[in-house]
Amino acid sequence: MAGIFSDDVLDALFRKARSYNGYTDQPVTEAQLHQIWDLMKFGPTAANLMPARLIWCVSQAEKDKLAALSSGTNAAKIRKAPATVIIAMDMEFYEKGPMLFPHADVRPWFAGNDKAIAGSAFRNSSLQGAYFIMAARAIGLDTGPMSGFDNDAVDAAFLAGTNYKSNFISTLGYGDPSTVFDRLPRPEFAEFNKIV
Ligand SMILES: Cc1cc2nc3c(=O)[nH]c(=O)nc-3n(C[C@H](O)[C@H](O)[C@H](O)COP(=O)(O)O)c2cc1C
Repeated sequence: MAGIFSDDVLDALFRKARSYNGYTDQPVTEAQLHQIWDLMKFGPTAANLMPARLIWCVSQAEKDKLAALSSGTNAAKIRKAPATVIIAMDMEFYEKGPMLFPHADVRPWFAGNDKAIAGSAFRNSSLQGAYFIMAARAIGLDTGPMSGFDNDAVDAAFLAGTNYKSNFISTLGYGDPSTVFDRLPRPEFAEFNKIV
């Protein structure tokens, strides 16, 4: 790997990137949704089993449906955003093991073990959610991740007939800087770290 990335890149990915509550009118294209997936899919997951399944709500009807199942303050953000994605997790993710991790038979690690399934699905789809945020930033888009919604209702409305469950949702678009809150504390190393 060549040297460290420039300050501009680190700012865009981390230091100046924000969680947005509103967006400009500039639309997000379907090609950009593909670009995000084609980056985020390279983020690591346990045994490469990548449990996340993404449902991209781009039509007003689907955004309205999702907004109606979300908390009061989140609903308006979803309705107005160019897109909102449901980051779901496939609770039978291990069935794709032969394709995704052919080195070993992973099915016995999970089949019938609800605790192992739930832990791995949540951990790894959450990681993929983070890769989604960083991939969106990397192509110049902004996100507004949210967990304030009725998971069971969203599962019934969007994921019926599948073994998927919602993890979290995120708006997506070109962030409107007037909609961000003041940056909250990000403590120095000593506060939350220990080198042993
Ligand atoms: C998993 C997750 C769930 C969140 N849920 C909500 C939410 O329901 N409503 C909301 O307004 N913000 C929500 N946020 C946004 C956070 O409050 C925000 O990312 C955090 O304060 C940092 O803001 P910054 O990225 O602008 O520094 C959520 C963020 C994450 C990552």
